Amino acid sequence: MTALLFGWVADRLLPHVSLTREELLAAMELPPKPEMGDAAFPCYPLSRVLKRPPAMIATELAAAVNGMHADVRAESAGPYVNLFFTREQWVGELLDRILDPGFARSTDGSGKRVVIDLSSPNIAKPFGVGHLRSTMIGNALANLYRSCGYDVVKVNHIGDWGTQFGKLMTAYTRWGDEAKLKEEPIRESLRLYVRFHEEAEKDAALEDEARRWFWKLEKGEADAQELWRYFVSFSLEEFERVYSRLGVTFDYTLGESFYNDKMDAVVQELQRLELLEESDGAHVVRLDEEGMPPCLILKSDGTTIYPTRDLATAIYRKQVMGADQLLYVVGKEQQLHFKQVFAVLKHMEHEWSEQCEHVAFGLMKFEGRKMSTRKGQVVFLDEVLDEAVAKAEAIIEEKNADIANKREVAEAVGIGAIIFGDLKHTRMLEADFSLEEALRFEGETGPYLQYTAARINKLLNTGGFGGGAALPSTRDAGMYVSQASAWECLKTLAAYPDAVQSALRSREPAVISRYLLDVAKSFNRFYHQERILTESGPETSAKLLAAAAVHKVLCTGLELLGMQVPEQI
Ligand code: ARG
Repeated sequence: MTALLFGWVADRLLPHVSLTREELLAAMELPPKPEMGDAAFPCYPLSRVLKRPPAMIATELAAAVNGMHADVRAESAGPYVNLFFTREQWVGELLDRILDPGFARSTDGSGKRVVIDLSSPNIAKPFGVGHLRSTMIGNALANLYRSCGYDVVKVNHIGDWGTQFGKLMTAYTRWGDEAKLKEEPIRESLRLYVRFHEEAEKDAALEDEARRWFWKLEKGEADAQELWRYFVSFSLEEFERVYSRLGVTFDYTLGESFYNDKMDAVVQELQRLELLEESDGAHVVRLDEEGMPPCLILKSDGTTIYPTRDLATAIYRKQVMGADQLLYVVGKEQQLHFKQVFAVLKHMEHEWSEQCEHVAFGLMKFEGRKMSTRKGQVVFLDEVLDEAVAKAEAIIEEKNADIANKREVAEAVGIGAIIFGDLKHTRMLEADFSLEEALRFEGETGPYLQYTAARINKLLNTGGFGGGAALPSTRDAGMYVSQASAWECLKTLAAYPDAVQSALRSREPAVISRYLLDVAKSFNRFYHQERILTESGPETSAKLLAAAAVHKVLCTGLELLGMQVPEQI
């Protein structure tokens, strides 16, 4: 659907029908094939009012439109009126719109603050594919919301608290090595964690020791705190390296520990509202009405857990950060957890619980392997990134060995391949990620899109419009750019704002990914069917304008997804 083009058609139909513009727009359809027109209007609704056969109305309506407007042509086809733009007259206008800096920006979200919980890996555990997906999907959503005028706050809710720290401290104080921890904090923490579990099988006393350490940490004892801070800061540094390669930043990195002193108030409020019930020594909120198992708030030893922390977090995001909408980009295996948390908020009379939304995604396998912390199955993200970049570099070496800054280009392409390989699938899909496939330059990949953009860039440079040089006027463009392939390409470009709206509504970056593939395919059809750099100056300029419009939409879209667009590949 292209709201812009449909709007133009509707304006031409409006004088001839007894419908409001909204009704007209709602009735209009996209014809199944481009040969059938740019828009179609079914005459059934009018037929009901006018009590005449729809085909008759279609014939009359087509004649009326043709009699009054020269810039669209109407053809009746049974009960339908098919409408065609007179391309020569519209191409310039369309290019003007697309090249306008305001195109693809909206202010729909102005004055609304969206807090997005994304990435949120756990300290002392590897940064897994789930966290990568959350980072990429969350980052793309943040860009989408921002492009629609929302005030976006990105929060990395680091898992920096929990009983695993007790285990880690036990292992570190027994077998740890400071130098190793500094050098490879995540790998070393994982080694210690795995060793703890191996040794604890033989020696049950280790579990007690771990509990003691965690207890000391919760009590705020200095040695435990110091060790904890040590683990956290090293891991954060390592995460930061990954984020900077991915080009992702956060407005806040607030660990779960940040809410340690904010949970008492939640528990007291639950007590005051008489929502807490005892169950086997623990305290829960019953959610029978919602058909869900009870939400655990306090364990039998009185300590708080994950849901309690998320209650305090949501309240903080609403009341202190001023969120109007709270999104949680977290794997779908946590669906019940979020449903329970949102339901408890509702029981607490927080009407705004309706503004909370779990943006879930499916588990992704990496080359057939599930990424998990379990022994032997860990795939380290930095290794994956390195592998992608090395492969990209090899391909570039083969394709275009003498480009400048090969390393940077390889980094952008390799990482772009991973980002796009993830974001091209609808988020709930349980995809299997193949690096080789994601790196193919021909295919539905990030490199294909980056390469298309680079190819256009080269055309623009050759034609003298590169590097931000002023583009020619769009006035006569329609004289030279009215071929079917060019027109289809421009129509695809005009649908960019619709793709953004749809992606935002469904919280689905894949809508943008699929759309960008359509853009690149339609441009490549145009490019293969028409010579762009011709002998005629005005013709070349007109075609380069169309190419510049494609370049703009491709770059804007890829940036929304969080990808870089190298000038040359
Ligand atoms: N650290 C958690 C995990 O890896 C994800 C946290 C998601 N955010 C939240 N507010 N619960 O499972």
